[in-house]
Amino acid sequence: MRIVLLGAPGSGKGTQAEKIIDRYNVAHISTGDMLRAEVAAGTELGQKAKSIMDAGQLVSDEIVLGMIENRLGRDDVKNGFILDGFPRTLEQAKGLQALLEKLGQPLDGVVFLDVDAEEIMQRLLARGRGDDNEETIRKRLDVFAEQTAPLVAFYKEQGKLAHIHGVGDVDEIFAKISAAIDDFSA
Ligand code: AP5
Repeated sequence: MRIVLLGAPGSGKGTQAEKIIDRYNVAHISTGDMLRAEVAAGTELGQKAKSIMDAGQLVSDEIVLGMIENRLGRDDVKNGFILDGFPRTLEQAKGLQALLEKLGQPLDGVVFLDVDAEEIMQRLLARGRGDDNEETIRKRLDVFAEQTAPLVAFYKEQGKLAHIHGVGDVDEIFAKISAAIDDFSA
C-alpha cells in the first residue's frame, strides 16, 4: 500500500495519517515532521530549514527529495507507506515517480483532502504551532495554491486521485478515506 495524502496546511493530513497507519500497518512519512526533527536537533539542514519554515515557504526540492530517497531505503517501508506533506511541487512529484519506478513500487493512489481556507485558518490559529500565526498561515495557503494545487490535476490525469471533502467529523472523513484506499487496491 503506497499512498500520498495531499492537502493544504491544516487540512488534516497528519490527523488522518495516524488513523491510516493504525488500520493499514504502513509507515508514516511526513516531511514536515522530519524537518522539525532536524530543527530540534540543531543540524545544519535544520538550521537552513528553520527560517524557511517560519516564513511559510518551501524547503528546496533537492533537500526534500534527498530526505525521501533515504527514508524509502529503510526497512519499515516494506509493507508500504503513507506520504504526508510530500510531494508539494511538480518537481517533487516527478522525482518521486522516478524514484518509485526505480524501486519497482508505483503509487497505489493519492487522497486529496479538500478543506476551505476559512476553516483552515480557524483550525491552525486554534492549534498554535510555531508556524501557525495568521501571516504565515496566509503565506502557506498561497504557496499551496501556487505550487501544490497543480498536483491535483497531475494525479487526476494519471487516474490516481480520490477527492475527499475534509470538513466535519474526523472519523467520518477517515471512513471516506478508507473506502478510497480500499478502492485503490481492489
Ligand atoms: P507540514 O508539517 O507538512 O505542515 P502543513 O502542510 O502546513 O500541514 P499541517 O501539519 O499544518 O496540517 P495537516 O494537514 O497535517 O493537518 P493536521 O492533521 O495537523 O509542513 C510544515 C513546513 O515544512 C512547510 O511550510 C514547509 O516549510 C516545510 N515542508 C514540509 N514538507 C515539505 C516539502 N515536501 N517540500 C518543501 N517544504 C516542506 O490538523 C491541523 C489542525 O486541525 C489540528 O489541530 C487538528 O487537530 C485539527 N483537525 C484535523 N482534522 C480536523 C477536522 N476534521 N475538524 C476539525 N479540526 C481538525
